[in-house]
Amino acid sequence: MYEMKPEYYTGIDTIDKEHTRLFELAQETKDLLCDDFILDKTDNLVHLISELINYTRTHFSHEEEYQRSINYPDIEAHIALHRKFEDKLMEFDLDSLGDDYTSQNATVEELLGFLTSWLINHILQVDMRYVKK
Ligand SMILES: [Fe+2]
Ligand SMILES: [Fe+2]
Repeated sequence: MYEMKPEYYTGIDTIDKEHTRLFELAQETKDLLCDDFILDKTDNLVHLISELINYTRTHFSHEEEYQRSINYPDIEAHIALHRKFEDKLMEFDLDSLGDDYTSQNATVEELLGFLTSWLINHILQVDMRYVKK
């Protein structure tokens, strides 16, 4: 189960709500991975990735706006990490997905691994730095 844990909370309401939604999207990815009844996961994957791209862009812009408002000194490095995440999401090659169930599931699994490790590490090790300033 992917969800917020007490240590993920920044204490900034908007940011915490957005992180909560990102964990929901990670859980949706996990649910898609475990769903053996969907024989072709292409549409679900396309939908999920586009939702992730849109939602992370919104979240990142709020976070960057907040950092500007507090004159956070490491903002440029933080922004660079956000852009890197967006680039990586865009790299998921859905055009060549094909209709093979096993390879589709491998792509969903890759997305899930990338998403969850990034989310947890980024919140705990990067986002928390601007919170503590
Ligand atoms: Fe961030
Ligand atoms: Fe964040």
